Amino acid sequence: MCGITGYIGSREAAPILIEGLRKLEYRGYDSSGIALLRGNTMSVHKKKGRVSVLADEIQNHPFHATTGISHTRWATHGGVTDANAHPHVSSDGDFAMVHNGIIENYEYIRNFLLGQGYTFSSQTDSEALVNLISYHYNKRTGENTPNRFLEAVRKALLHVEGTYGIAVISRLAPGEIIAARKGSPLLIGVGKNEMLISSDVLGFAGRANNVIYLDDGQVASITPDNCDIITIGNKQIECEIKEIDWALENADLGNYSHYMEKEIYEQPKALEDAIRGRISDDNSTAVLSGLNMSPNELRQIDRILFCACGTAWHACLVAEYLIEKYARIPVEVEYASEFRYRSAPLDKNTLVFVISQSGETIDTLEALRESKRKGFRTLAITNSVGSTISRESDGGLYQYAGKEVGVASTKAFTSQVIICLLIALYMGRMRDLSFPDGKEIVAAIKSVPQIASKVLELAPMIKETAKKYSKYDDFLFLGRLSEFPVALEGALKLKEISYIHAEGYPAAEMKHGPIALVCPECPTVIFANSEDILPKLVSNAQEIKARKGPLIAVTDSPKAFEGIADDIIELPKVHDSIKPIIATIPVQLLAYYVAIERGCDVDKPRNLAKAVTVE
Ligand code: F6R
Repeated sequence: MCGITGYIGSREAAPILIEGLRKLEYRGYDSSGIALLRGNTMSVHKKKGRVSVLADEIQNHPFHATTGISHTRWATHGGVTDANAHPHVSSDGDFAMVHNGIIENYEYIRNFLLGQGYTFSSQTDSEALVNLISYHYNKRTGENTPNRFLEAVRKALLHVEGTYGIAVISRLAPGEIIAARKGSPLLIGVGKNEMLISSDVLGFAGRANNVIYLDDGQVASITPDNCDIITIGNKQIECEIKEIDWALENADLGNYSHYMEKEIYEQPKALEDAIRGRISDDNSTAVLSGLNMSPNELRQIDRILFCACGTAWHACLVAEYLIEKYARIPVEVEYASEFRYRSAPLDKNTLVFVISQSGETIDTLEALRESKRKGFRTLAITNSVGSTISRESDGGLYQYAGKEVGVASTKAFTSQVIICLLIALYMGRMRDLSFPDGKEIVAAIKSVPQIASKVLELAPMIKETAKKYSKYDDFLFLGRLSEFPVALEGALKLKEISYIHAEGYPAAEMKHGPIALVCPECPTVIFANSEDILPKLVSNAQEIKARKGPLIAVTDSPKAFEGIADDIIELPKVHDSIKPIIATIPVQLLAYYVAIERGCDVDKPRNLAKAVTVE
């Protein structure tokens, strides 16, 4: 959420910063801005709109500089205007700052600074902080403070409540960028006699292969060939430089029109990579050493709690079905944002899992911290190597799905689900799941990439179906058992990228209210891939038809829906354990093609951004 880039070195900063912003634009795209520093002269440009608008502005006002910071915004405080775009400049014109996060006590700080003669030109919380930095810098006039700029930032941050990832430059201290983080990711890319700053490793692509991850509560002074880190409490920190694995970060669009399309099609590979090296044929089980728990410790677990947000929360719901069915361990699923603030009683033998594609979602991160604080073993499933969640959890499993840039999550979801199935298999085989049952699940897991490829061949047919349905403004999605979360996910995909109102329900629950919505103007998508309850699902379909609701069946029993459904998306018959993965792919495609038909900006949907790092 919001992208930050920074550069200090010997090359022209502006093109490098704009290039970085373009790579980070998926994190926020309502406005952008840049501040460049040459000697004691600062040049600042901010523009409402996409990064291309800023790029044009810079081209029309060239300013040669080798130091700069820039930002692409997802608005929190203050509307989308040029004035509210970052960087923000202190009213004395000495400091410029880009900020991700929210300063919660900004009004208090602002009022204090108004009393000190500072003025404000935006409605943002961020402007309070840059002025506070100036205030602390000036408080030391006459003092011979070493690292005066760093100290001013550190002192200012001592008074801040909330979250931040910031990069600051000052015309009083050229040759240095100060960066700091608390709750919002910030990374330093180490190049040859140059340093970069970014809120996402993607911002360094093609520019740096080594990275320093700032931790919460750290402040860094960055020069072209050095990075000094201290804590907000003024303790020196040893810099740890890590190599970036670019194979996991590739974000080229290739021949695809949109990242979402590309990522839907990458699913067979993502699923293959999620299971690689994690299956033991000999024992018909999974091999999950990343959990960092001995079989004995895992056998002590009486209960599992899953926490996540959005699509990842839907993956948790599938996990509940899979783990309870195959491992017979009670599972509970919580929205991470709710878990954090309520006093959920947890038994002592509870294992906590968080799931997060980005590994940076603040609600999920705070749920992780809360459960660790309470002394629970907390494991993570994440797609982002080196992310805050991966670093702070006690262990976990990487998804290896490759970079997900599309704001609507697709391949990350199916890869999270297959990892949850591996967990169900592993924990099941430690308990009552028999060798032959384990063997069936192993075979099913191994078949997923190939079946996913086959389902993707339905794309042309689904594209035609999408044309027919794109005119509707309301949709229902119904599914039962492990396909209930798939119904939720289908509804979420559609509403996110095409702005169609869509609701997901357990199919039988429809009679208890949502059926009131059924009419010729409200199509229903029904998932029906479970033989045991097929007659019930067919009855639900009949109830919709009787009320003249248009109906799409996503089913492996097409005959059962002949004469009832208006359109049938036929799926192959597969093992029960992998049905939620296979059933998701057609509705991702449906959502994608409906959005295209409606002329929506699929990769940059209204009001959304990837990686939600504010509460
Ligand atoms: C929906 C979507 C979001 C994310 C949610 C959690 O398509 O992408 O709902 O799933 O914001 O994000 P992560 O998984 O990064 O924690």
